[in-house]
Amino acid sequence: MSDSVQAQQEEVSFGPEARAEFEEILTHYPTKRSAVMPVLWLAQREFGWISSQVEAYVAELLEIPAPWVESVVSFYTMFYRRPMGRHHVQVCTNLSCQLRGADDVLGAVSHKLGIDPGHTTKDMEFSLDKVECLGACGGAPVVQVGDRYVENIDVAKATALIEKLEHGEGD
Ligand code: FES
Repeated sequence: MSDSVQAQQEEVSFGPEARAEFEEILTHYPTKRSAVMPVLWLAQREFGWISSQVEAYVAELLEIPAPWVESVVSFYTMFYRRPMGRHHVQVCTNLSCQLRGADDVLGAVSHKLGIDPGHTTKDMEFSLDKVECLGACGGAPVVQVGDRYVENIDVAKATALIEKLEHGEGD
């Protein structure tokens, strides 16, 4: 059984701290359903990614249909729909970045990690994604690692960045 299938089959439920955080989040919204984004964010932090079980759990907590939750999760790329590596590397290949070499950067990162975009390394250290505009076109080409942007990147800088992360630097 794969890890992802196993994770999907595990029961999901907030622990006492996350439950308290959930209750606190609700105090900021007029209705439970309005809190879907922050509650999903909390759920992702707690469970690592948003499986169909997590979607169902959030729907139950917020007393809304599961397809509503699924539609939010599928719209926003910040919600992960698969188990993710410790480092999430996102390479923008939209127009501005593409014109400045993003495809080469993506190819170099993909080669360095030995995975195609949309995949995670076997050791769960890196997930690689090709993404749409990151909203930082002035610094194209742009790579996002976690919540950090690296602008004006090129093949050499991207390779060095991955090596640093592999050696535990820049975490
Ligand atoms: Fe890459 Fe906008 S096109 S950041």
